[in-house]
Amino acid sequence: MNPIERPRRLRRDGLRELVSETTLDASDLVTPVFVDATTDERVAIESMPGHERVPVEESVSRVEEVLETGVEAVMLFGIPESKDDRGSRAWAADGVVQEATRRITRETDATVITDVCLCEYTEHGHCGVLEDDAAADPRLTVKNDETLDLLGKIAVSHAEAGAEMVAPSGMMDGMVGAIRDALDDAGRADVPIMSYAAKYESAFYGPFRDAADGAPAFGDRRHYQMDPANAREAMREVSLDVEQGADVLLVKPALPYLDVIGAIRAEFDRPVAAYNVSGEYAMLHAAADRGWLDLRETALESLVSIKRAGADIIVTYFAEDIADALGR
Ligand code: PBG
Repeated sequence: MNPIERPRRLRRDGLRELVSETTLDASDLVTPVFVDATTDERVAIESMPGHERVPVEESVSRVEEVLETGVEAVMLFGIPESKDDRGSRAWAADGVVQEATRRITRETDATVITDVCLCEYTEHGHCGVLEDDAAADPRLTVKNDETLDLLGKIAVSHAEAGAEMVAPSGMMDGMVGAIRDALDDAGRADVPIMSYAAKYESAFYGPFRDAADGAPAFGDRRHYQMDPANAREAMREVSLDVEQGADVLLVKPALPYLDVIGAIRAEFDRPVAAYNVSGEYAMLHAAADRGWLDLRETALESLVSIKRAGADIIVTYFAEDIADALGR
């Protein structure tokens, strides 16, 4: 008997493009940029081939390179000149991210999104103010509510420097509401919040922690970042962020959490972003270096899959390479 349905009919060249359900576009991509106040020259990041930490003086030229590929948005991370126990350089008007943001928004057309977190700014490397004795007692970590005040100050300092959107990544309870209030009180009701609504305690952040010098000095982040085992909890996290005024909902990492991206897309009427993290980038590079995988093809397939799952925006270290490939 002949098959009743023949899906292969539409897989011929010329037709398969017509019926393609998902397209990637450079305008969906955001490239992370690391600005480093401790160096006056560009420093390659070994575990993230093609990425560098750049001094503030080079931030504009770095972003111009990004724009040339067709990618229009950058996410800024800062490495401060000094750290302390509360991370006070994170909200300094002359801090590394604030300086870079001012220059980039003045001199380029790039859309600047800033990471709002404390882990790169605290000497202990945690994402907030520590409980007393946290270093000695593994059950203690970050004080939630005291940290909220600091996150509000950071977001306002970024907005005042010209950031178009702020992206809190610390997974503190109430962080979106606290930042929304702080921005509104500062007269910055126009600045949207891209909340890391579902950020997992992931081993895929390893290369980033080297890049941004943000590994915790002791303990780990499992008291504030989510357990990889939990998907229903992600929906609760997202609901809370929506109630508090999140404008964009971000899931991180991306590839191991496509189910979470899909579920959020189906349930919530807000733009969804996914962060294709440093480990997802490094593993494809490592395999490609050995000749085991084709880098461009696996990167493209990864990003198409993240979009197909439901992401509107992808933050990815592949942004420039893929935009280049798409432009050809
Ligand atoms: C800091 C932060 C991290 C990443 C982005 N912001 C690291 C962490 O939580 O340890 C990871 C990004 C990546 O791996 O690409 N809050």
